[in-house]
Amino acid sequence: MTRKIVLAYSGGLDTSVMLKWLQQKYNAEIITVTLDVGQRENLRAIEKKAKDLGALRHYSIDAKDEFAEKYVFPAIKANALYEGKYPVSTALSRPLIAEKLVEVARKEGADAVAHGCSGKGNDQVRIEVTAKALAPDIEVIAPVREWNMTRDEEIKFAQENEIPIPVDHDKPYSIDQNLWGRSIECGVLEYPDVEPPEEIYEWTVSPEEAPDKPEYVTIRFENGIPTAINGEEMKPVELIETLNSIAGKHGVGRIDHIEDRLVGIKSREVYECPAAQVIIEAHKDLEKMVLTRHEISFKHQVDALWSTLVYTGLWMDPLKEDLDAFIDSTQKRVLGEVKVKLYKGGLHVVGRSSPLSLYDLNLATYNIESKFDQKSSKGFIDLWGLPTRMAHALKRRREESDV
Ligand code: ARG
Repeated sequence: MTRKIVLAYSGGLDTSVMLKWLQQKYNAEIITVTLDVGQRENLRAIEKKAKDLGALRHYSIDAKDEFAEKYVFPAIKANALYEGKYPVSTALSRPLIAEKLVEVARKEGADAVAHGCSGKGNDQVRIEVTAKALAPDIEVIAPVREWNMTRDEEIKFAQENEIPIPVDHDKPYSIDQNLWGRSIECGVLEYPDVEPPEEIYEWTVSPEEAPDKPEYVTIRFENGIPTAINGEEMKPVELIETLNSIAGKHGVGRIDHIEDRLVGIKSREVYECPAAQVIIEAHKDLEKMVLTRHEISFKHQVDALWSTLVYTGLWMDPLKEDLDAFIDSTQKRVLGEVKVKLYKGGLHVVGRSSPLSLYDLNLATYNIESKFDQKSSKGFIDLWGLPTRMAHALKRRREESDV
């Protein structure tokens, strides 16, 4: 019986070459899978290409809603920004892709899944850890780690095997996109001292080209997730897409930073994540109004750990579920509206309100008729500063006696 391999297929040159290479090298039938996670690509064309290249069957899976609700929403609740900057957009999609690969493999009776990730990145880890946790008996094949082909050799292989070479194959950039963001790598971007050329951006205009008038958006949150924009209720996917386009139009969402990959490499990463930046900024702001200072300071640590787990491929680790339990418990009170101003690449929260607000004007006001009893501050300061005063008293004594 011929072997069956399920391949995560993007329609690009790498995975197209892979489709043929796997057929030849493993003498296998290839079943291709493409997920729609909001990457704005023509899934029909990808399906046709897979079939033309001899895929036994192709699965086009619309996973947009699932991606938004089960992956992006938890990331919002966790204010997920890896190393303080990257909204883990690519990282969020990988466990979902792995899950679907395994699902299709089971259905098709395949004993292996294959992916197009290189041996230098995070994506291989994310896909393989998840696939192996779900299905230890299914082999994972990573052709790029095995075949050792240069770009030119790949193109030669493509020509020999009648694989259509995409018209833009000479563009040096490697792109990955989904609802939550767009990652751009390679080419001149590998020189961290060089400003990214304007041509790499697709979701955002440059701040210089942005409208001269600011735009305000009000985001409503319920249980920590966004539910409406400017008073209009929206489904998850629609809401995120709407914010991607509004904020992108104002030049908001560009990220350029040095990132630590799990495999130890530092890399320069460029992203466009307009909706992610706006939503997380607004969400963090609202949390400051409804959570206590103790909750906020602990949650900072939990959020950072959550982001690191997801970035490093441990979506399936029980620790993430444990952290989710804490996060969800805090999010029950994250209810309210946040007003954001977008202007020429700038994103500023300019107002917030919540029925569960802990802000009390009567306490905070500097007006004289406040219910805050200023007299009690005196004793409070005595005790609060006690350890510091003791330490300094000792320091002085030691200086005087020279011990
Ligand atoms: N550095 C980012 C991450 O690890 C982006 C990876 C982009 N992946 C890709 N296959 N182009 O999440």
